[in-house]
Amino acid sequence: MYLTEREQRMLSGEEGYAVRKSMEILVALGDIYGADKLIRVGSVQVAGVSYHNLGDAGLEFLNELAKDGKVKVLTTLNPAGMDLENWRTLGISDEFAVKQNLVIDAFRKMGIITSCTCTPYFIGNLPRYGEHIAWSESSAVTFANSVIGARTNREGGPSALAAAFVGMTPAYGLHLDENRAPNIYVQVNVILKTQSDWGALGYSIGKKAENRIPYITGIKDAEVDELKSFCASVVTYGAQPLFYIKDITPGSETQSPPKEKVTIEENDLKEAYEEINDPVTDIELVCIGCPHCSIKEIAEIAELLKDRRISLSTEFWVATSRLVKQVADKRGYTEIIEKAGGKFACDTCMAVAPLKGRFKSVATTSAKGCFYSRQNKMATRMGSLRQCIEAAVSGKWN
Ligand code: F3S
Repeated sequence: MYLTEREQRMLSGEEGYAVRKSMEILVALGDIYGADKLIRVGSVQVAGVSYHNLGDAGLEFLNELAKDGKVKVLTTLNPAGMDLENWRTLGISDEFAVKQNLVIDAFRKMGIITSCTCTPYFIGNLPRYGEHIAWSESSAVTFANSVIGARTNREGGPSALAAAFVGMTPAYGLHLDENRAPNIYVQVNVILKTQSDWGALGYSIGKKAENRIPYITGIKDAEVDELKSFCASVVTYGAQPLFYIKDITPGSETQSPPKEKVTIEENDLKEAYEEINDPVTDIELVCIGCPHCSIKEIAEIAELLKDRRISLSTEFWVATSRLVKQVADKRGYTEIIEKAGGKFACDTCMAVAPLKGRFKSVATTSAKGCFYSRQNKMATRMGSLRQCIEAAVSGKWN
């Protein structure tokens, strides 16, 4: 990979340890994937924030980099293992909280904005169409590539951090036009009614597309929250963090439909629900906000929970970014949700919080949430927001 004189100096350590380490990572990646140069990135989003996943070795790695590492571009974080303010309310141990705070301190030292969210585009980390970025969180990467039309590979935590310290990333993969062309045509022959239907659609398309980029037709309309849900699901059950929906997402007007064609019928969606749902009726946790809730979703939750009461046998969590919650506070939604017995899980999520062994079952609107909850040994139920609220109030899935 070609390096400018300045880049060579960074690689030789002239700009310190963190920059040298970062250049080593970026050059290795560039060589593996055949990049010819580094390109500037407009922003970075770093995953690998939960102490639950990092452990002490990860914390040590971050502390080493934080000694002299300072990010060169706008950089935000993916969810951490706990709500950074109200972790006790969510049943997190003091021991875990101490370690998680050390992780956040290390990121803060690096100049990173420690807003921990997988929907950074709702809180100011919003790239423009065509902008090169280096993001890690798979649902956010898919949203950035497909809904915004920015350009990013799915970075690992270390490679995203490296891009932040250098302000650049190797030009390969989804940064290049030739790798962004769709290669499977998906005709959708179903009407989608709820956000969980979008999750089920993501499951079906992800499974059929495998490692190919879908060009999707048959969808007449889509709200941002529905696309957010679809992004999380299609990349979890498929592989590529990029899709086109004709007349809805950017770039679909210039791409041609690929020859190979598959269809999505009612039966596919039914199968997706059957695969994602376990035959469990007692629900111990209901979690909404995978990916993190928008203010519109929180307003809907408040509307459905008004003057109601969550079952004593169930916890109800709303996962969102702290900034979006602040808007919910001002609008009075927080008060309604908390009065009903619900809790906010800011900065964190159902996949990265240490939940294994705490709940046996979970209900959610999110297909991705179900995927990760199963890894945490929970039985899963996916349904509409209304179904999830009813489950929270009755403690049962009907
Ligand atoms: Fe976000 Fe966690 Fe879901 S990172 S997409 S809430 S699994």
